[in-house]
Amino acid sequence: HVHFRAPGQEYKEDWNTGSAAAVAGGVTTVLDMPNNNPPIVSVKALEKKRKLVAGTSRVNFGFFIGATSDNAEEIKKAKGFAGIKIYMGASTGDLLVDKRDTLEKFFKEFPETVIAVHAEDNVCINQAAGQYKRLHDPEIHSKIRSAECAYEAVRAALHLAKKYGNRLHVCHVSSGVEVEEIRKFKIANATEHDVRVSCEVTPHHLFLTTDLYGVMGNFVKVNPPLREKSDVAALWKALEDRTIDIIATDHAPHTREEKGEDYWKAPSGVPGVQTSLPLMCDAVNRGEMNLTEVVKYMCVRPAEIFSMKRKGKIEKGYDADFTVVDMDLMKEVRDEDQLTKVGWTPYKGKKLKGWPVMTFVGGVLVYDGTVKDEFAGREVRF
Ligand code: NCD
Ligand code: ZN
Ligand code: ZN
Repeated sequence: HVHFRAPGQEYKEDWNTGSAAAVAGGVTTVLDMPNNNPPIVSVKALEKKRKLVAGTSRVNFGFFIGATSDNAEEIKKAKGFAGIKIYMGASTGDLLVDKRDTLEKFFKEFPETVIAVHAEDNVCINQAAGQYKRLHDPEIHSKIRSAECAYEAVRAALHLAKKYGNRLHVCHVSSGVEVEEIRKFKIANATEHDVRVSCEVTPHHLFLTTDLYGVMGNFVKVNPPLREKSDVAALWKALEDRTIDIIATDHAPHTREEKGEDYWKAPSGVPGVQTSLPLMCDAVNRGEMNLTEVVKYMCVRPAEIFSMKRKGKIEKGYDADFTVVDMDLMKEVRDEDQLTKVGWTPYKGKKLKGWPVMTFVGGVLVYDGTVKDEFAGREVRF
């Protein structure tokens, strides 16, 4: 789950810098989101983006298409995309489906397509925003976009997924109340078949909390927002019992200048594609998780959920996409080492043990401590 910003916002990121950050972070395939400028909401926009990205990426890539109030029929004509992204709450960009009947139409008409939701209830957010409108401290972000707003949207999405049997994927769950609702759903609907509902958690929701506003201000303004320690504990527990299926970065770069604006103007999102695997390797070294689980959450399950053929495992007949990690290598995360165009990271100063040292994409060595001049990334078609 990445936002590589092309077309339209290449001043924040492009495929050269975004995919360099990915391979340096041991990532071999990314699924790119449709909140571009213009947004990817038509066959024409999708085909244009395909042409733009082809041959320019160091990692494999797939594309989401975005839902709007009136493009369900158009999406039926689109081919080979990873899934439909629905913003139930407004986030960065203009994409939004806040009408209940439009939302239901997508669930009804696309029972076999992955529907990936940004689940924060827009009415709930707007109500809270009104109450805080005189304040400017970035920490209000977590109060305005409360766990209750996320919970409301998750409940609505699960209700529809139950009604129409969808392949629903809930993006970036961030709170205890959300994962409890998903847990109940999975238990109630467990059959001999796979449950078709899945969800992801981001490293920033696993490792950062609201305390950080005091240090980083708008630099950690992100949707959904950072939560309290109790929520973080609930997310780790939900990984353990497999309520959460995958770890996904939601790499969403914005420039330092943009992040330096007033709270109400600064855009939401943090970069993360270069740091996700080192953070998880470090967690393994601290005994928080084992390496097999990291592989499951970051390789096996993502490939299963999105039906990526020949990916997610190192096996005969599979693509040679893999990374070599040195579990004893200790390094400090530094802004200077970030290959994202925005050149900063919310994990700055953290000392992590366990780093990718070689990355292969389709059998080609693309990173060995330095990023190679190889653009071996291919489009994954769905
Ligand atoms: C994302 C972005 O900047 O594109 N921002 C964010 O805070 N996560 C959009 C999104 O995924 O919601
Ligand atoms: Zn989102
Ligand atoms: Zn996102």
